[in-house]
Amino acid sequence: MKKILMTPGPVELHPRVRKAMSRQVVSHRSTEFHQLIESITENARKIFKTSGDIFILTSSGTLAVECALANLLELGDTVFIPVYGVFGKRMSEAAEQYGGRVVNISLDWNKALSIDELEDTLTHNNDVEIVSFVHNETSTGTMVKELSRISEIVKKYGKLLVVDAVSSLGGVPIPVEKLGIDVCVTGAQKCLAGPPGISLISVSDEAWKKILSKSSRTPSYIDLKKYRQFMEKLETPFTPAVNLMYGLDEALKIIIEKGVENWWRNHYECSQLLYNQLESSGLTIHSLKEYRSITVAAAYPPQGINPKTLVEEMEQRGVTIAEGMDKLKDKIIRIACMGNINKKKIKYVMSKLRECVETLKSDNTKL
Ligand SMILES: Cc1ncc(COP(=O)(O)O)c(C=O)c1O
Repeated sequence: MKKILMTPGPVELHPRVRKAMSRQVVSHRSTEFHQLIESITENARKIFKTSGDIFILTSSGTLAVECALANLLELGDTVFIPVYGVFGKRMSEAAEQYGGRVVNISLDWNKALSIDELEDTLTHNNDVEIVSFVHNETSTGTMVKELSRISEIVKKYGKLLVVDAVSSLGGVPIPVEKLGIDVCVTGAQKCLAGPPGISLISVSDEAWKKILSKSSRTPSYIDLKKYRQFMEKLETPFTPAVNLMYGLDEALKIIIEKGVENWWRNHYECSQLLYNQLESSGLTIHSLKEYRSITVAAAYPPQGINPKTLVEEMEQRGVTIAEGMDKLKDKIIRIACMGNINKKKIKYVMSKLRECVETLKSDNTKL
């Protein structure tokens, strides 16, 4: 049976990426490794649109987000973290664990951060030093759409800006340098179509000032000062997942060959097709229209159909999609629009979804 992975990360790997990972390992202190790290960071810069620092972590996205916070936060520093889903909640908990005083606002989970909420919070909380948010809430299928206005406001108030773009960088334009994003984090296994277990983090000059002025120590494995020191000789401080890096390198090369702008456009066009087909198949989109994610669609099945059963039914037809998380568990399904996607694939997945919906509807009428 043809199998298709449509979860919002990890995503399917291109045969070239799989091949790249199966090669013999090299020493992470060798010239070959130096070339590898140089190639990854050079291509990553073209996707992050920055000439600044980018580091590679042998970690999934969660630790990379923690790395951002742990390096910036001093005990008692105030950080604004709006919460509109699971990953915002996780970010907020991490900020507290690393000593931050978190100013939260809880938004409905069918929204994402908007200009008004940001401005309002910053006007009423002078002590905020860092604004940190999830760009694409993978748990709810919502995305911050006014990123450039939002970053403008953060900069107008003179704050540092941290963005969790784990499930969006590569899928939509996030020109880190132009927007003044101080730390931007992404995972390899989502829109970059690389393997899981590796992540990228960009760090601006402003962020460095804060990191270097911090008096408390950062946990060694995620201490960016160490990464910077080793990066001078094109190395990482600890043994990295070398073969995953070969996979990521190949994945980035594919994006560059296809053209970053084309890669973004493909995500956009496929997401529009996906939303149209979900709606015409009787599903209801969870996110408000103005916050709809371009990289993951979250939807309620037609009435009377249980999301978990729908996910299982899809699995039996060879298509893996995801259920909801946290308070959206047993309510929605989630289908990714990330990485190696194309319209043919979306149409195929949606034809299977319609089949499942029809089967489950007729099962219900038999009851
Ligand atoms: C927005 C966002 N942030 C953080 C994470 C955590 O990443 P990981 O599962 O790679 O640890 C995810 C994972 O789906 C995510 O979507």
